[in-house]
Amino acid sequence: MKNSGEIMAKQLKLLGFVGSLRKGSYNRALMHAAQELLPESVELEVFEIAEIPPFNQDFELQPPQVVREFKAKIRNADVLLIASPEYNYSVPGVLKNAIDWASRPFAENPFDDKPVAIISASVGMLGGARMQYHLRQTFVYLNMHPLNRPEFMLSKAKDHFDNQGKLVDEEARQRLKQLLEALVQWTWKLKGKIP
Ligand code: FNR
Repeated sequence: MKNSGEIMAKQLKLLGFVGSLRKGSYNRALMHAAQELLPESVELEVFEIAEIPPFNQDFELQPPQVVREFKAKIRNADVLLIASPEYNYSVPGVLKNAIDWASRPFAENPFDDKPVAIISASVGMLGGARMQYHLRQTFVYLNMHPLNRPEFMLSKAKDHFDNQGKLVDEEARQRLKQLLEALVQWTWKLKGKIP
């Protein structure tokens, strides 16, 4: 017999990407936790940005294949989720680079009108807050619709994961679950539909 998750068709496509390429990344681990905590109606695909080369505007009309694929996935998604560390009080270069590639040429910006949420983990005390607000500034230019509340920032990251990279802090899991539920509601609201 099928369980209810198999019977219920996935209604929303969520595309995730991670702003750290580190193997043991806490932010990648957060994305895995989001996968576990997603509402059943949502399908999450994670795109790997590691192979995206440095942006060069000379090639924005003939981007590398990996960028074409990234743009197509963004265009096809109903909603985006970005998990990222904060580097030097801001957005990691690899993440900004991936966004810059995908945003060009601007007339074909696939981020246009997309809902998005940011989650972050940091070994510091502010949990990546400064990165999140810098990324929100970029969303203004891209005409994206970030979820305002709840915010999710995880400070002192190593205290909240086990040795296998599982988010084991129950309070953090609940907060992340609440963000994901709110993101689904936000997405339907922007589509003008109540699920
Ligand atoms: C950091 N880190 C960091 N942390 C923070 O809270 N604010 C910051 O501005 C910075 N700056 C910074 C710059 C660079 C270049 C590195 C490599 C690191 C520490 C960061 O929180 C820590 O390395 C996290 O573990 C990075 O996230 P991942 O890789 O675990 O996902």
